[in-house]
Amino acid sequence: MEHVKIFDTTLRDGEQVPGCKLDTNSKLIIAESLDEMGVDIIEAGFPISSPGDFDSVVEISKLVKNATVCGLTRAVKKDIDVAAKALEKAKKPRIHTGIGTSETHIKYKFNSNRNEILERAISSVSYAKSFVDDVEFYAEDAGRTDNDFLARICEEVIKAGATVLNIPDTTGYCLPEDYGNKIKYLKENVRNIEKATISCHCHNDLGLATANSISGVINGARQIECTINGVGERAGNTSLEEVVMVMRQHKNLNLMTNINSKLLYGVSKLVSSKMGVPVQPNKAIVGANAFAHSSGIHQDGVIKKRETYEIIDPKDVGVDESSIVLTARSGRAALAYRAKNIGFDLNKLELDKVYERFLKVADKQKEISDEELPKIIESSKL
Ligand code: KIV
Ligand code: ZN
Repeated sequence: MEHVKIFDTTLRDGEQVPGCKLDTNSKLIIAESLDEMGVDIIEAGFPISSPGDFDSVVEISKLVKNATVCGLTRAVKKDIDVAAKALEKAKKPRIHTGIGTSETHIKYKFNSNRNEILERAISSVSYAKSFVDDVEFYAEDAGRTDNDFLARICEEVIKAGATVLNIPDTTGYCLPEDYGNKIKYLKENVRNIEKATISCHCHNDLGLATANSISGVINGARQIECTINGVGERAGNTSLEEVVMVMRQHKNLNLMTNINSKLLYGVSKLVSSKMGVPVQPNKAIVGANAFAHSSGIHQDGVIKKRETYEIIDPKDVGVDESSIVLTARSGRAALAYRAKNIGFDLNKLELDKVYERFLKVADKQKEISDEELPKIIESSKL
């Protein structure tokens, strides 16, 4: 099995989102949980962006025991100075620096040209390298960057000391096949590529962030940048819990991570409550309905054998058990199962009568709870 590093950017790209702002104390609690869960790199913030973010990076650097702590910068000397200062106390510090490389970014953001961008990339990596050994370079909007130019810039920043090459699909534009081919192209055309790790950083504008990241690692990337619950700019970043479970469930990929998956649900809840952003109920892995079954056909299958409709054991991600939800779409098997759970062992005749009454009540409301069920059972005996 090959190891894919998990780079969590919940506290940087995730926290950039309006309404997701975290104070230093909340960031420390989240950073500690990420470290405990086995995240390899924690992107703690963008130190030059505000004094609060600077302080958070300082405190996280002091606190984190195992993970590398990373600070984001632009390809600007002052940013790098400030990040280096904020990371001084980190056991394993990393500076993340970079610049936009697509024609759109070069022309409209920087009013510049490829040669100047290349020079800025090289000098920012060399400068960051004068503070720390571990320097990650991001080619912003790499998803829309011409592969030849991207390969050239990657080769030059590796010469300047970059240890990790971040290939962001900043706008979430790529298709999985194209993103995978981009990584493959770099593996095959950057002469010194063995000196660096390629990292996937995908946004979810077309709902493809997880698929793109997985395509990236299938094609040779060995780091994925992601956030808990997929929070992040616009439609969000790659969701950590999704990529971890894809690799865990598809053993034939031969890829593994250090993440203790049993902690995923708890960390998801923690981030959701600290950010004040609810998790959508149908969210893969950690949504409230991820292990809930409500239609009669599915319930009957799950009661007979959980694997008929579940590809993940809920316990593997920290959820106690699958749930059988009673709605007007439920069948007799689900009703008998739930009744038994609360102490009513119904025979066939009783079940038929209770089911008739149950459907009348269920048709009027969304769900039947354990509190209501005894009343339905008792009233149908009359
Ligand atoms: O999406 C992106 O390109 C980024 C970079 C700053 C790494 O978040
Ligand atoms: Zn991003």
